[in-house]
Amino acid sequence: MKNIELYKPKLDDLWFREQCMSDSKTMNYNAGYDVHYSGYHYDTGCIDFPKEKWQSWVNDKLNNPNLFYAYILDKDTQSFVGYVNYEINKTKKATVGIVIKNEFRGQGYMRPALNLLIQNAKNNGVVALIDTVPQTREQALKVFYDLGFNKVGEFVSKKFNKNEIVFEIEKKL
Ligand SMILES: CC(C)(COP(=O)(O)OP(=O)(O)OC[C@H]1O[C@@H](n2cnc3c(N)ncnc32)[C@H](O)[C@@H]1OP(=O)(O)O)[C@@H](O)C(=O)NCCC(=O)NCCS
Repeated sequence: MKNIELYKPKLDDLWFREQCMSDSKTMNYNAGYDVHYSGYHYDTGCIDFPKEKWQSWVNDKLNNPNLFYAYILDKDTQSFVGYVNYEINKTKKATVGIVIKNEFRGQGYMRPALNLLIQNAKNNGVVALIDTVPQTREQALKVFYDLGFNKVGEFVSKKFNKNEIVFEIEKKL
């Protein structure tokens, strides 16, 4: 079992977020979506996060009580391996996200990181966690289901202009 903790990054730690978001292997899951926000690269899924943006990101995101964002820190190797986040909506449900940096994938970080995130959300008064996961991400879905998420819906999205079935999943806390 991985020896990890959720670590709230400081301004000087944001190089890791920049590194993740500029790595096409890590961000490939995010490519090809018909979204238009500044710094998004349709072809690779990468998102620009230059140092000039770090302070305003800390002010907007890290200091927002409805957002939780943390790095996954491997305590044995003292390395950041990815990040988790959730955003609480008006009904006290929260949308979760988890990204493991490409080079650390397949090593068993997902389940323990999500377990810590679930515990954190519970302690923070969140009533349910929700996510949208493409049907093709079978290994990720398996872990979500094992941890008590259920499929509550599905919709069709476009990835590189092709239809993609996306599952809506939820776990009551
Ligand atoms: C999805 C993601 C978080 C998984 O992270 P990861 O660290 O590679 O995951 P793990 O190593 O913990 O593997 C997850 C599960 O898949 C299984 N798995 C991993 N590689 C596998 C392989 N090659 N064949 C079969 N199963 C495999 C693992 O056994 C594990 O299941 P277990 O906990 O029951 O043992 C990572 O691929 C990622 O960041 N993807 C992009 C973002 C994303 O899709 N986020 C999730 C949906 S929002």
